[in-house]
Amino acid sequence: MERNIIITGGAGFIGSHVVRLFVNKYPQYKIINLDKLTYAGNLANLKDIEDRPNYKFVKMDICDFDSVYKLMQDEHVDGIIHLAAESHVDRSIKDPFTFAQTNVMGTLSMLQAAKLYWESLPEKWEGKRFYHISTDEVYGALEMTHPNGIEPPFSTKASSGKHHLAYGELFFTEDLKYQPHSPYSAAKASSDHFVRAFHDTYGMPTIVTNCSNNYGPYQFPEKLIPLFINNIRHRKPLPVYGKGENVRDWLYVVDHARAIDTIFHNGKVAETYNIGGFNEWKNIDIIKVLINTVDRQLGRKEGEDMDLITYVTDRAGHDMRYAIDSTKLQKELGWEPSLQFEEGIELTVKWYLDNQEWMDNVTSGDYMKYYEDMYANR
Ligand code: NAD
Ligand code: TYD
Repeated sequence: MERNIIITGGAGFIGSHVVRLFVNKYPQYKIINLDKLTYAGNLANLKDIEDRPNYKFVKMDICDFDSVYKLMQDEHVDGIIHLAAESHVDRSIKDPFTFAQTNVMGTLSMLQAAKLYWESLPEKWEGKRFYHISTDEVYGALEMTHPNGIEPPFSTKASSGKHHLAYGELFFTEDLKYQPHSPYSAAKASSDHFVRAFHDTYGMPTIVTNCSNNYGPYQFPEKLIPLFINNIRHRKPLPVYGKGENVRDWLYVVDHARAIDTIFHNGKVAETYNIGGFNEWKNIDIIKVLINTVDRQLGRKEGEDMDLITYVTDRAGHDMRYAIDSTKLQKELGWEPSLQFEEGIELTVKWYLDNQEWMDNVTSGDYMKYYEDMYANR
């Protein structure tokens, strides 16, 4: 079957992996990467597929309703995978307006353009899909609990039957109420509500997924893992927020892209799916793994860079723990993560060490100035 699909934010971290997967796997589809190319968008992330006949890049702002609407008409778009967003919590604390503009108004602009275009067609919603990519951060923060006095992490069993380590008894399930704390997660939560409202009000075939923290190649080095790999390499301090006790649930980005593929094609309209690999880590523990891995891969003595760890003022409103229960996705659609975390980290560190030129490009000029200004005020 032929399809014309817009992937928004395709030049960013996760979007570039989704574009690559779809362009490679579905030569019969036309994949249109709609991206404004903010600081986080980088066409170098897609060098390997940019000449493919089934791929097209369009530089566009999702907030530019008229252009988005025209693009959908010109390209006869029948599927939208919407990833474009401002995505960094620390930036949202400094500049919440940009987050509301892009994440809320931009999503609304995409929804309204798709609605007007699809409603104008004789077959209307049939064969159409608006798939919105969201985050687990909309659910708020989970407690670190100690069942029967056992100190976390403790072994527990997901309803899928698999054992994993957890830092608390509760997990984010699809029916949990939204309790976002940061301007980033508040804006994402609002956009999720708009997507569901377009289904409930107009009958638009929508799907929402909420994924845990991603890691892997092409992530902008303001986020924990690429920032710290680069700093360890250059022996720069590693700014650990608070005590480093916060817990995040990490998923290799290619596994997120695989989940998006599965859900885009087989997910049920109007449903929500949580995506995660039951892989909780305390920040400080992950940081130690990163130091050991970078040191080893660079031929240094493992752990010799531990003294780079520098505890700094905590992030305002820092969510304590995120932990996704992805049982629904695993049971209903048969998706599972393909990589163990240890393998994923090994590959990720290797990728960043092998791609210093990519790193140098994105850490030069304006970005570095922004970054330095941000930390000067901490
Ligand atoms: P990213 O910041 O790396 O990339 C965002 C992309 O969106 C960039 O290419 C940027 O140029 C583009 N963009 C920003 N504003 C735009 C606009 N107005 N018009 C068009 N394009 C615009 O983000 P990411 O980490 O790849 O996240 C992608 C999506 O996945 C986001 O919606 C995010 O909320 C969600 N998500 C991310 C994670 C994670 O761990 N990174 C986890 C769960 C969900
Ligand atoms: P981040 O990668 O920004 O993702 P998110 O805030 O969306 O979870 O941060 C991951 C965790 O690492 C989070 O608990 C904040 C912490 N962190 C630091 O301790 N230092 C840093 O310099 C950064 C960027 C993050």
